Amino acid sequence: MPKNDNIDNIIDHKLFTEQDIHNMCVKLGKQLTEDYAGKKPLIVGALKGAIFFLTDLVREMNVKEQIDFMDVSSYGDSLESSGQVKIISDLATDVKDRDVLIVEDIVDTGLTLKFMKELLKKRGAKSVKCCVLLNKKANRQIDIDVEYYGSKVGNEFVVGYGLDFMSFYRNLRYIGVLKPEAIKLAANK
Ligand code: PRP
Repeated sequence: MPKNDNIDNIIDHKLFTEQDIHNMCVKLGKQLTEDYAGKKPLIVGALKGAIFFLTDLVREMNVKEQIDFMDVSSYGDSLESSGQVKIISDLATDVKDRDVLIVEDIVDTGLTLKFMKELLKKRGAKSVKCCVLLNKKANRQIDIDVEYYGSKVGNEFVVGYGLDFMSFYRNLRYIGVLKPEAIKLAANK
């Protein structure tokens, strides 16, 4: 699929504009600044979806934090979770006794977050919380605490600002809803 070609044929409508996203980052950043005051949290970005959100969020946080990344994937290029979360590349930082904040673009089934939270706790983190931009509850398969989130979303397929469709469209500045026919077309290829 050509990258961002004919985007109007793919995107049904914008769900969150750049300004909406900025407002969410500001609000979350303020809350996290209060909640992590006096702490030195380790911010763990879940690649690849979280890249844009993380970079905007941490610049709204006035906290002495460190950043590391973990590349985890359960979807690959598939449209449905495989149910198996794989570590593609791991953290470089020891999380023992650290206050860890996982940053994610979206929580959907909840399997990725559950996997990450359990792993980091097992490694001895002092606390493990998460901050996700979008909280999609319709497909949740397990009960999981989502301590911070920007907005709830319905069951639409959303792309942009890190969120992908078959690994494309992450670089859109806004978050849009995919046209159902675009999804059907790709599924039949
Ligand atoms: C996406 C997203 C979250 C996860 C959420 O990642 O970035 O990490 O799925 O879904 P879940 O709640 O159903 O587990 P994906 O595995 O597609 O990798 P990516 O971040 O590289 O796109």
